Amino acid sequence: MLNFSFQNPTHIHFGEGKIAAISQQIPSDARVLLVYGGGSIKNNGVYQQVVDALEQHTWFEFSGIEPNPSYNTLMKAQEIIKEHRIDFLLAVGGGSVVDGAKFIAAATFFEGDDPSEEKDPWDILTKQHTITKALPIGAVLTLPATGSESNGNAVVTRDGNKRAFSSPLVRPLFAVLDPKVTLSLSDRQISNGVVDAFVHTIEQYLTYSVNGKVQDRFSEGLLQTLIEEGPKALLPQTKDDLEVRANIMWSATMALNGLIGAGVPQDWSTHMIGHELTGAFGIDHARTLSIVLPAVMKVCRDNKREKLLQYAARVWQINEGDEDARIEQAILLTEQFFKTMQVPTRLSDVDLAAKDIDLLIDGLKQHGMTALGEHSDITLDKSREILTQAL
Ligand code: NZQ
Ligand code: ZN
Repeated sequence: MLNFSFQNPTHIHFGEGKIAAISQQIPSDARVLLVYGGGSIKNNGVYQQVVDALEQHTWFEFSGIEPNPSYNTLMKAQEIIKEHRIDFLLAVGGGSVVDGAKFIAAATFFEGDDPSEEKDPWDILTKQHTITKALPIGAVLTLPATGSESNGNAVVTRDGNKRAFSSPLVRPLFAVLDPKVTLSLSDRQISNGVVDAFVHTIEQYLTYSVNGKVQDRFSEGLLQTLIEEGPKALLPQTKDDLEVRANIMWSATMALNGLIGAGVPQDWSTHMIGHELTGAFGIDHARTLSIVLPAVMKVCRDNKREKLLQYAARVWQINEGDEDARIEQAILLTEQFFKTMQVPTRLSDVDLAAKDIDLLIDGLKQHGMTALGEHSDITLDKSREILTQAL
């Protein structure tokens, strides 16, 4: 196992009716900015529950954070923060809203490296500027997918450039996870969430063995839970089952809260290539992953051989046949799982073709994504091979 430091201080409040807990979690004298997205929370009762819980607080609101939150939208929050002397952010929504709140929190105190230059908080994402101060954040999660509610990561888009940053200072202090609020999700968003959580687990599991037995078994448990429960959330007879939603919700949080990735190598090439697909063509985050992952598994099968065999045996119970056949079967079953979740598995499924690959490779180059994967050996040529495999 590799050395690691691990701390996850996000206080989780899990279960039906838990939104009320935020009244105790936010300091009573805080000046709160409630940030949310396009309004789904007004249609499913979440907004009202939050308003009720904030009855004793001084609060303001900022809405309109879009999926794949944009720098331009997020920067508009700064005026409200100054005007109302906001000192606490409450993010209510999916990963985009929580990520958006993280960027707003960090941008509020951004000073830049060079006082003589005009300061632009976009540097937080492009220059990996170290964050020294951020507004405190609380989250009410409405879409289980990203794990953003209890990690320090955020992804922001500007002019087709999708960039990430990370800081422990933007990790939410608390997160409310009420599975009931996920009942209003569309099938598309349910699928996206399950697939995103699945691929987060794979990125931290399907690398090479360092004998991290706890991490491996945890990851295999999450993968199996998502394989079992994900399809049930799409079936009419089990769609509204809160037990199903609860298991999906907790899996998604656990998949990217730092636990399973501590002490093991991590890949993330599927995500980095996927970000280019979203940046250039606006494809939903999870749908980029379901297209890229099977191709990564195929192109990197030699490097990942040992773990692919373990994945085949423990997650899919494939124990018969020679090694290559077992690996092929595991990749096929992964693709079938994605199909069951109604997400695309090929570039052609989203109307992209070989002629579109150059633009994606240019993006990877421009964003410095030239040595991806657990061995840093996925060069631009390898990424091209992966994208060609995904056609
Ligand atoms: O904007 P509203 O009206 O709220 O509608 C949203 C949005 O249209 C809707 N929605 C959310 N909860 C709902 C609901 N509709 C009905 N009922 C509910 N309960 O769903 C739509 C998509 O929301 P979004 O927040 O964009 O989805 P998701 O949670 O999948 O977040 C995706 C973003 O997170 C980033 C992605 O790149 C993407 O920008 N990621 C963040 C990560 C992190 N912070 O660690 C890791 C991930 O790999 C990912 O990159
Ligand atoms: Zn993801």
